Amino acid sequence: MAPARLFRLGLFMFLIHFSYSDPGLGCPRTNTSLLNFTSHFTMVQHQLRGLFSVIDDCSFRVSNFDMLSGDDVHWWGAVGDDFQNLTNGFLISDSNLNQTYKNDSFIVHLLKNVTWDQIKVLSIWDIPTASNFGHILLSNYSVNGGVSSSNTEQPTMFENCKVLSDNYRIRWSFKEGENMIDIGLEAAIGIQDYMAFGWANPNASSSLMVGGDVAVTGFEEDGMPFARDYYITKYSECMINEDGTVQGVCPDSMYKGTDPIGLVNNTKLVYGHRKDGVSFIRYRRPLRSNDSNYDLEVDPMANMIVIWATGLVKPPDSLRPFYLPQNHGGSYGHLRLNISEQVNDCLGPLDAKDKEDQDLVIADKKEPLVISTAPALHYPNPPNPSKVLYINKKEAPLLRVERGVPVKFSIQAGHDVALYVTSDPIGGNATLRNMSETIYFGGPEAEGVQADPAELVWAPDRNTPDLVYYQSLYVPKMGWKVQVVDGGLPDMYNNSVSLDDQQVMFFWTLSENSISIAARGEKKSGYLAIGFGRGMVNSYIYVGWVDDSGIGRVNTYWIDGRDALDVHPTKENLTYVRCKSENGIITLEFTRPLNPSCDRNARPECNNIIDPSTPLKVIWAMGAQWSDDHLSVRNMHFVTSKRPMSVLLMRGSAEAEEDLRPVLAVHGFMMFLAWGILLPGGILAARYLKHVKDDSWYRIHVNLQYSGLAIVFLGFLFAVAELRGLNLDSLHVKFGMVAILLAVAQPVNAYLRPKKPGPGEEACSKRVIWEYSHIIIGRCAIVVGIAALISGMKHLGERYGDENVHGLSWALIVWFLIGALTVIYLEYREINSKRSRISGRSNWVLGNGEEEDADLLNPSRQMTDKVSHSSERMEIQLEPLSR
Ligand SMILES: *[C@@H]1O[C@H](CO)[C@@H](O)[C@H](O)[C@H]1NC(C)=O
Ligand SMILES: *[C@@H]1O[C@H](CO)[C@@H](O)[C@H](O)[C@H]1NC(C)=O
Ligand SMILES: *[C@@H]1O[C@H](CO)[C@@H](O)[C@H](O)[C@H]1NC(C)=O
Ligand SMILES: *[C@@H]1O[C@H](CO)[C@@H](O)[C@H](O)[C@H]1NC(C)=O
Ligand SMILES: *[C@@H]1O[C@H](CO)[C@@H](O)[C@H](O)[C@H]1NC(C)=O
Ligand SMILES: *[C@@H]1O[C@H](CO)[C@@H](O)[C@H](O)[C@H]1NC(C)=O
Ligand SMILES: *[C@@H]1O[C@H](CO)[C@@H](O)[C@H](O)[C@H]1NC(C)=O
Ligand SMILES: *[C@@H]1O[C@H](CO)[C@@H](O)[C@H](O)[C@H]1NC(C)=O
Ligand SMILES: *[C@@H]1O[C@H](CO)[C@@H](O)[C@H](O)[C@H]1NC(C)=O
Ligand SMILES: *[C@@H]1O[C@H](CO)[C@@H](O)[C@H](O)[C@H]1NC(C)=O
Repeated sequence: MAPARLFRLGLFMFLIHFSYSDPGLGCPRTNTSLLNFTSHFTMVQHQLRGLFSVIDDCSFRVSNFDMLSGDDVHWWGAVGDDFQNLTNGFLISDSNLNQTYKNDSFIVHLLKNVTWDQIKVLSIWDIPTASNFGHILLSNYSVNGGVSSSNTEQPTMFENCKVLSDNYRIRWSFKEGENMIDIGLEAAIGIQDYMAFGWANPNASSSLMVGGDVAVTGFEEDGMPFARDYYITKYSECMINEDGTVQGVCPDSMYKGTDPIGLVNNTKLVYGHRKDGVSFIRYRRPLRSNDSNYDLEVDPMANMIVIWATGLVKPPDSLRPFYLPQNHGGSYGHLRLNISEQVNDCLGPLDAKDKEDQDLVIADKKEPLVISTAPALHYPNPPNPSKVLYINKKEAPLLRVERGVPVKFSIQAGHDVALYVTSDPIGGNATLRNMSETIYFGGPEAEGVQADPAELVWAPDRNTPDLVYYQSLYVPKMGWKVQVVDGGLPDMYNNSVSLDDQQVMFFWTLSENSISIAARGEKKSGYLAIGFGRGMVNSYIYVGWVDDSGIGRVNTYWIDGRDALDVHPTKENLTYVRCKSENGIITLEFTRPLNPSCDRNARPECNNIIDPSTPLKVIWAMGAQWSDDHLSVRNMHFVTSKRPMSVLLMRGSAEAEEDLRPVLAVHGFMMFLAWGILLPGGILAARYLKHVKDDSWYRIHVNLQYSGLAIVFLGFLFAVAELRGLNLDSLHVKFGMVAILLAVAQPVNAYLRPKKPGPGEEACSKRVIWEYSHIIIGRCAIVVGIAALISGMKHLGERYGDENVHGLSWALIVWFLIGALTVIYLEYREINSKRSRISGRSNWVLGNGEEEDADLLNPSRQMTDKVSHSSERMEIQLEPLSR
């Protein structure tokens, strides 16, 4: 019992101790001059509104808080509200503001090492963009020590708010007894749109508009807000009749002709801003004006009909020197409003779809973008330095560039501004802030003045992210965003070819160690796959598809069979991976090393090497659906390439791996006929048929060789014609050419042969040399020719798949083996018969040594033979040659 109780006591003590260490509780309520200080936040961005009040030395309360979400938003302290002081500020609390706030209330504790004395400005700060969303000035109050509130009226804050439509609200403050009402109009509309609000004529019968007294508000072309008093006499644009009278929706002053200042024009602009795609105008008007003609009296206690509209506004022209509301289309309405009733039905900030208000500059191929500096007027991301970058005279515009299209800059922003394009939203050299950045363009050298501008070209490529920033290298936050959009794929890649059947375009750019590849299907599909290999089996596959959550994915696979189970996911090192589907047209992109940096034996993908100098066999497939896991036969239903394309990466072209082209087939057959049958046959005839009949061997020899040669010649022409020229690189062609040259040498040297020795004469040495050379050249030709045949088969194998060619190759080899065996057999017989002849009838001799292998190998014997036997028979045999 005792130990357990002790333990509980310990736990209790621990809890007490723990809770005392909580900063919120151990905090004196007394010692700040700011105690109970209350103020509204100054809205800077993100539609920030709310009430701030100090609770004690280390905490404050935030109530009715509205804010659009940011990236990484924190409570921030600074000693001044200027650019320098704010950016040099510090964190004051652990809690962050990581969401969109809608009328939220909560308490925030300061960090332990932070006191109110240090904080002159309390800001809501987005750290990654160094952006001030809103702030409170505390400096004035720590001095006089008084309890203060509402001293700091913010123009954005009102007592009441009423929703007019999804994107239009009216806020108002009105003090009883006063003749003035403050009205704030707030709408998520374009900057060139007007906001109109006013009271309908209570006595009007038909149209609510006619007789209405409205204020028309908006922004002038230079971005300045305006609020004007209008009166409606007709449901139309303001028209000036010929007699000088006006009709329509016109300013009060127009009806009067000349406006005695302040008499009819009694709507006063108080404040206006345009932030986050939301227009906000605050104006003040009297409830009872002394202009009884064109102003209506507003009874603060009555439920009166108010009318409102938004629409395009037309800038003034010489005829009608005022902003002219155009037809409001569908966005107008009316309701009953009692301004003294407390209303607030506006929950949360207005969230405009398009928050980008900056001018857009689109980079053009020809015209350089002129970069200059000028005072900041509407810099989009406050706080900012007093001077910011202008492009083509527009203040910090959004710059849009296209991948693959070079951007020309003419930099003339002064010597203290060096342009660069960076991944860092703040700029000013991130290294100095201990941050890292990627610089895409520019640097210290990108500076110039008007008299001597720096002309530089930036080429955004396919690896440039969608969003980068142009900034000055020396001062942060002078520039703004660069939107990088995809150019056509042809702009972004150096090479492209159409794959088989023109259904897939294949793009690539080679760099030293890597290759960037894109593929685009030319018809709708659920996924697009491209592969390197001769067929689906034994290929490396890259599959691009868009998954269920809408994210484009590219996966890699190794396929070693025809089944779904044979599709093995691999881990290739792909970078810059993208896949998108536009109307079902899938485009996938990635960059990979040419040579994977892993052990060849470790995983199959390590063998997926791209050698730019050899043709890359590319295949493709498309199908309805792909998934990360659960690959099934269903996934395998697709349209595929019929045959691989050989893409020549270096040359930028491709050729189809076509079926054996008939002409090449004829070439092969002819060459086989010549080198496999006719020419060897002719040689055999010369060698073995000499004894058969008088000179029939000779005729056979000559006829066979000539017809063989003719066929070789034809076959050669066929191949040259089909392939449009000779590419001497290939071994086959080399062999073929040598064989042909040797073969052609034969009839030539036969023609030039020296006269044969007469009967009983000794063969002259020239004749002997000729005979030898004829034999040697002839046999070499055959050997080289056979080599050409076999290398031709190998070519065939490379082109059309080994399986199909194997059989043919074997048949060829068997054919030549049979030939060789026949020769050996004949040789054997020859030697035998020779022996018998030598031993018996020594008259027979192959004195010329025309075909004698054995003799050639043994010259001494040859010589003896020759010397001892120069027969008359030989004479006769060789006779035809001299014909
Ligand atoms: C209040 O704070 C000041 C310093 O900021 C200190 O000198 C003073 O003693 C404190 N008073 C109390 C009551 O804590
Ligand atoms: C601050 O407000 C609280 C309650 O709201 C009140 O009790 C306290 O007296 C106020 N302090 C000062 C200094 O006004
Ligand atoms: C920062 O704020 C302090 C105090 O308000 C002021 O004296 C100083 O000039 C400011 N710094 C800059 C750079 O403006
Ligand atoms: C915001 O941060 C708080 C803690 O600081 C966390 O509890 C909350 O879930 C976060 N909200 C969102 C939307 O991330
Ligand atoms: C307070 O302490 C934190 C670390 O806990 C530090 O990051 C911060 O800079 C300090 N703030 C001040 C004003 O000293
Ligand atoms: C703070 O005081 C200065 C002068 O003392 C004044 O100009 C400024 O408007 C005050 N700020 C606020 C928010 O009242
Ligand atoms: C109304 O009066 C203000 C000054 O009070 C002036 O700036 C504005 O131009 C006037 N508007 C018209 C339409 O006269
Ligand atoms: C905002 O919150 C307050 C309480 O803090 C509540 O009285 C008010 O009705 C809320 N407003 C809206 C528009 O919901
Ligand atoms: C940024 O500043 C660092 C430190 O001064 C310097 O080394 C670096 O070169 C600068 N970066 C550029 C792009 O000039
Ligand atoms: C990818 O890169 C990592 C590290 O650079 C390496 O370990 C791995 O083997 C590589 N994989 C491939 C397929 O190249």
